[in-house]
Amino acid sequence: MAHGGEIMDGSRIQEVSPVIADLKSRFIAHEPYTQLRTQFDRLLYQRRSDILAGRMPEARGIAVIGNSGSGKTTAVERLIEKHPALNLGQDGSEVCEAVSVRVPSPATLKFVGETTLRSFGFPLASNKTSNQIWSMIQFHAQARKTLFVHYDEAQDFICNTSGKEIEDVIKTIKSFMQDQTWSVGLILSGMPALKDLLNLDSQLSRRFKPILLPTIGYTSHGPEIWEIIETYVGLVDLAVGKGINQKDFLQRLIHASASEFGITVEMITGAIEEALMAGASSVTKDHFIATFRSRAGCVDALNPFVALDYRGIDARKLLDGFDEVEPQRLNHAIQHWRKAS
Ligand SMILES: Nc1ncnc2c1ncn2[C@@H]1O[C@H](COP(=O)(O)OP(=O)(O)O)[C@@H](O)[C@H]1O
Ligand SMILES: [Mg+2]
Repeated sequence: MAHGGEIMDGSRIQEVSPVIADLKSRFIAHEPYTQLRTQFDRLLYQRRSDILAGRMPEARGIAVIGNSGSGKTTAVERLIEKHPALNLGQDGSEVCEAVSVRVPSPATLKFVGETTLRSFGFPLASNKTSNQIWSMIQFHAQARKTLFVHYDEAQDFICNTSGKEIEDVIKTIKSFMQDQTWSVGLILSGMPALKDLLNLDSQLSRRFKPILLPTIGYTSHGPEIWEIIETYVGLVDLAVGKGINQKDFLQRLIHASASEFGITVEMITGAIEEALMAGASSVTKDHFIATFRSRAGCVDALNPFVALDYRGIDARKLLDGFDEVEPQRLNHAIQHWRKAS
């Protein structure tokens, strides 16, 4: 690489870091996000009119489903944080119409309950039973006029390590959504196993509308990914350079990103960062090679941007921070539960 021997000076890092931070904070409103927003708005405005009319029908929910790195967390957080019609207490009131909870580990009913309470701004209630905690949550949800609670990594909530609580969790979720005085709509985001878990209970599954964040492919998403590259590179006043103008490159990029939309975007910002740090005037394939190398920490023979026959490379296994697609224990627990019931 042209700038390989150069020692990075502090001033360049200072200059480049905010530019990259800006790029990383951008949100691409892709097709599944539009679906999510539409579905959410339906639930929101139905609920508002029910409240006006003094009705309290059982709440409905949305299940946002995709592999690790597809973009679930980003999409739901964006939806809630930037929704123009949601009151999250910005006006200084007690009202908080949506609350987001990252399912903790271990995801026991009790610990998830405690974490939910804390998300409502309430301290731990560890001397309480699980039932008491969940009725406190119900109470706070009503007091703060909470319409939606989001659980991220919800597959772990429904099926925690032992899988023993599945029935209790399903019961809790249903009563949360069915409460006669104040029902709460749930947004569950999680891995594909989440769909199977919801399907274990037909009353539960019919309450949820699934929104899928699918894996991406060259044929279906090539033009969209190309547009993102051009836009992002243009935003930082660089040019699209050597080695990234053909079909072969896009196929390699998608493969190197384990066919996940979110990872693909991260790979693009990573390459731009490499280019900026090196003081280059264009982003080239070399910058993508370097990004993958530092993310995966592997030799070039396993780098999809380099290897001649890259299709056999399992990028997901090599990339840091992105879990396996389907945790084995979930499948075991689902089978076990089906057999038992
Ligand atoms: N719509 C999007 N626009 C821009 N970047 C995104 C988008 N979706 C995902 N990303 C990027 O992909 C990364 C992984 O997404 P994330 O939401 O954490 O995936 P998941 O929760 O499905 O594992 C995020 O850190 C973000 O940088
Ligand atoms: Mg996530």
